[in-house]
Amino acid sequence: MYNGLAVTPQMGWDNWNSFGCDVSEDLLLNTARKIVSYGLRDAGYTYVILDDCWSSGRSPGANGSLIANSTRFPNGMADVADRIHDLGLRFGMYSSAGSMTCARYTGSLGYEEVDAQTFADWGVDYLKYDNCYNEGQSGTPLITYNRYKKMQVALNNTGRPILYSLCNWGEDYPWKWAQTISNSWRTSGDITDFFDRHDPRCPCPPSNGINCALPGFHCSAMNILGKAAPYIDKGIPGSWNDLDMLEVGNGGMTDAEYVAHFTMWALVKSPLVMGNDFAKLGGRDLSILINPAVIAVSQDPMGAGAFRRWIYDVEDRDGMAEAGTIQMWSGALSGGDFVVALLNAGTRPRMMNATLADIFVDSGAEHSELAQQSWDLYDLWGNRMPEEIAAGIIGGNVTLGAGAANVTDYYYNATAKS
Ligand code: DGJ
Repeated sequence: MYNGLAVTPQMGWDNWNSFGCDVSEDLLLNTARKIVSYGLRDAGYTYVILDDCWSSGRSPGANGSLIANSTRFPNGMADVADRIHDLGLRFGMYSSAGSMTCARYTGSLGYEEVDAQTFADWGVDYLKYDNCYNEGQSGTPLITYNRYKKMQVALNNTGRPILYSLCNWGEDYPWKWAQTISNSWRTSGDITDFFDRHDPRCPCPPSNGINCALPGFHCSAMNILGKAAPYIDKGIPGSWNDLDMLEVGNGGMTDAEYVAHFTMWALVKSPLVMGNDFAKLGGRDLSILINPAVIAVSQDPMGAGAFRRWIYDVEDRDGMAEAGTIQMWSGALSGGDFVVALLNAGTRPRMMNATLADIFVDSGAEHSELAQQSWDLYDLWGNRMPEEIAAGIIGGNVTLGAGAANVTDYYYNATAKS
């Protein structure tokens, strides 16, 4: 941890997965209002992050500052920040450690000081810092570190706490060097709304996920999870592996796949940044995103990610190999609890078993003792918000229970009673 932020993995929303370059202040503010009214702010999703395509270049002069597109943001970024803050949320901004952003808007390379100050003056609380057009300043950890370090120093010099999220797609092994300069680093290329790397629709090669480190490769959720699996221990309080934004609600996965995607992002302590369009969000999707038990695992104060303890290839119905995998993940939580996930990334239902010895395999001297104890077991999805309540929240027609002041209270009251 270098700046006191992201003590637990950051949570929020980013427009990129659903809207790409179609950004505007209306989109951000309408989304922010929904994050509040659906109870997601109170569940922990506090950062509203504007991604690429927001600027219209620099003001004239050697040290010209970035200018927001006045058609898309007619009231200016400081006003957007104020209105997001008024909703009890925080404002995230995007730039690239390159001469241009990936969508060919003006980048911040060489303008770190002036841009960091602009962001601070606008009231920005979070910077996602991309990797496009880096002018060859990549290829070794030191070169990439130095490029990203410049913006960290500049942000620090503004005196404003700004969460710093590196988006370098795992290039040059950020899990080895980014803990001292950032709050999170992307481990791979962009996620797509596919679950399994064996899905024929998935454009990422079904090798071992390594190409997910490369720009231009778009990866399934399981592809990205597999890529990050060896580095889970590199995420520590204040500095996290970032497996990319969530796809929950975007329609490309089944409900069970979205449950698995969300669960694993929470267990490995990835930031939980929603990437959905709230106009299309269904009740089932909301009831995933707002599951307080799984969010509690993500936000557990111990900040220890779960590890993959085993993985096996499974076969599909025709006996073809590589139809997917079954996996077991486990990890320590504060208070002596442990979390366990049995993950079926295959194409059909599976019976799966996990022994206590497997679950506690890396728990050191306590290992045999923990495996001998008896444990109470809780299903973190067993108390999932009923779909009709979630749909009622989205439709704005939930009848509040006695003593409940808002939809979130209603949910927690309902949960407590069940
Ligand atoms: C590449 C990043 O990986 C994406 O998340 C998004 O920020 C785009 N660039 C924007 O151009």
